[in-house]
Amino acid sequence: MMAGPQHFVVVLGWNCNSACPFCVRRELQRSHTGAKHEMTFEEFAAGLERYRPTLKSLALSSFGETMLNRDFPEMIRLLAVRYSHLEAVHVITNGSLMARCYSVGDLPGLLSFSIDSPFRETYEVMRPGLDFGLVMSNLRTMVQRRNHGGRRVGINMAVFDCNRGHVYPMIQFAQATGLSYVHVIAGMGFEGKDTVGPAPLPGDAVVAAQVARARKDFPSVEVISDTFDISPVNRCRMPWTSMDIAPDGQAHPCCRSLAVSYGHWVEGQPWSGDSIARLREQLGSGRIDSAEFVSCATCRWR
Ligand SMILES: C[S@@+](CC[C@H](N)C(=O)[O-])C[C@H]1O[C@@H](n2cnc3c(N)ncnc32)[C@H](O)[C@@H]1O
Ligand code: SF4
Ligand code: SF4
Repeated sequence: MMAGPQHFVVVLGWNCNSACPFCVRRELQRSHTGAKHEMTFEEFAAGLERYRPTLKSLALSSFGETMLNRDFPEMIRLLAVRYSHLEAVHVITNGSLMARCYSVGDLPGLLSFSIDSPFRETYEVMRPGLDFGLVMSNLRTMVQRRNHGGRRVGINMAVFDCNRGHVYPMIQFAQATGLSYVHVIAGMGFEGKDTVGPAPLPGDAVVAAQVARARKDFPSVEVISDTFDISPVNRCRMPWTSMDIAPDGQAHPCCRSLAVSYGHWVEGQPWSGDSIARLREQLGSGRIDSAEFVSCATCRWR
């Protein structure tokens, strides 16, 4: 087993400047009260320092808007100075606050703008309060301002009924804008179904046809659609490689498994504790105790 995690997803906080009707955040606010916290620079720095010897990559996200965290620019400065050896610093953002920190373009990894439609009308229904023109302009700015050869700029598109037909135009837009990838993600049904409609299922024929056509027509764009493609799925290796860190510092197996905590990333022993050991053993044997690891028991990646 690895001496320490190679990858973290660090969830920086809760605050958001939008209120997307489909967002998982609403459900999490009810069910995951323990993490209503904004991670501070000091907490971030202490957590990373502890695992510095084994860490190879990082993803920065949020239960709200990633770049709204007060200390985000300082965190990025720390990564540039002390963690320049990391292979990737992925950032997922709604793209509205890029002016706070253009220097995310100086690090390697994926910079994912969550834009669910290339059409203003649909975008503004799905991302209330955000300025479509500003987000598109920020996207173009970051394509131009990439200062690291390994920085790739692309789109995260959550698909519901209201934007189900926009997959092909989105990939067309991505090629025209010089983007590297479009990640087409099956929406998960929480609230907001009245506004955005139900999420299409994995394997949805309308989405699959657009993805197939766009891959042929726009070959410079990588289309990632693992929640829609019906293909052999890689088995989950997360407890051997990575942890998800919530804003309050609790370490979890992954974003689908927030009910399970391995312990605090600085004060506890999450990587070598009993909880992660049981999950490794159970994922290895294929026999999951659904009372303890309820999300893993039904997960298609295990
Ligand atoms: C929770 S957001 C946090 C970062 C930032 N606020 C944003 O929107 O990119 C992370 C990603 O989850 C996606 N997301 C939120 N709710 C979802 C849902 N119900 N189904 C699928 N993806 C969802 C967002 O579109 C975004 O790409
Ligand atoms: S911007 Fe991101 S976190 Fe905020 S409501 Fe929308 S999807 Fe959720
Ligand atoms: S089996 Fe699924 S739910 Fe469990 S840690 Fe892996 S990806 Fe997460």
